[in-house]
Amino acid sequence: MVRRLFFRLAAILTVFLLATNLIACTPASLVDFSAGEVYQQKSPSSDGIGKVYMGREIAKVMGHEAAYWLERSSRRWEEQPDQAIDALELQPTDIVADIGAGTGFFSFRISPFVPDGKVLAVDVQPEMLGMMDQVIEQDHIVNVETVQGSPTDPNLPEAIDLALMVDAYHEFDYPKEIMQRLVSALKPGGQVVMAEYRGENPFIPIKRLHKMSQRQVKREMQAVGLVWRKTEEFLPLQHLMFFEKPYEVEGRLPK
Ligand SMILES: C[S@@+](CC[C@H](N)C(=O)[O-])C[C@H]1O[C@@H](n2cnc3c(N)ncnc32)[C@H](O)[C@@H]1O
Repeated sequence: MVRRLFFRLAAILTVFLLATNLIACTPASLVDFSAGEVYQQKSPSSDGIGKVYMGREIAKVMGHEAAYWLERSSRRWEEQPDQAIDALELQPTDIVADIGAGTGFFSFRISPFVPDGKVLAVDVQPEMLGMMDQVIEQDHIVNVETVQGSPTDPNLPEAIDLALMVDAYHEFDYPKEIMQRLVSALKPGGQVVMAEYRGENPFIPIKRLHKMSQRQVKREMQAVGLVWRKTEEFLPLQHLMFFEKPYEVEGRLPK
């Protein structure tokens, strides 16, 4: 009993330390602050870039220097990625875009589920793409392709069945532009799935701007024509939110 309590406290403390110290954010040097009225400017918070979208300050990009944090061994039980992937109900032929793929923590776990499809692993940081390319080469993985995204465009080379964003969307410098392009690349009926640390829960030890509330995510997805389908709450720390590109708005999505 005491042993179990000890391990639980140690786990909570580890997550807290990782969240406060190790999510070292580099300045979002990719940002061009000449955006129009879609975005507003404020003085930056410690974990933000001072750019506001739909009432939310955008978080700093997690620098590639902290890539090891994405690959920490405790992540499997802290975040239960395998359960999240099960919930995607992937089909073998699916084309999946992992937007903000980082080191490919999700991309490489998804690839066995889409043997006749592929994973497009998109990131803005070339260093992250380089790390994924090494794994692809070493492990002879044939269905994961890295894609250099820009701050405004994921540069998806083909139509996709599903876009996954894990702990990434809140730090997109141009969320509206990225989502508009992503929605254009999504097949009608295709899904956007987002995992974001629960912003409603102050006890989740993650920096404030690196968490999102369900309400805020829904507002921002609705603004680009996506329809909320469900939110799964079985993950320990994150909302897993499912949105769909409806068939009926194809060709007349909001610009
Ligand atoms: C916190 S990491 C999460 C990585 C990965 N999804 C995971 O869960 O392990 C966020 C990633 O999003 C990437 N990113 C930030 N802005 C982006 C954008 N506009 N387009 C694509 N990737 C972006 C960052 O470079 C970083 O690798």
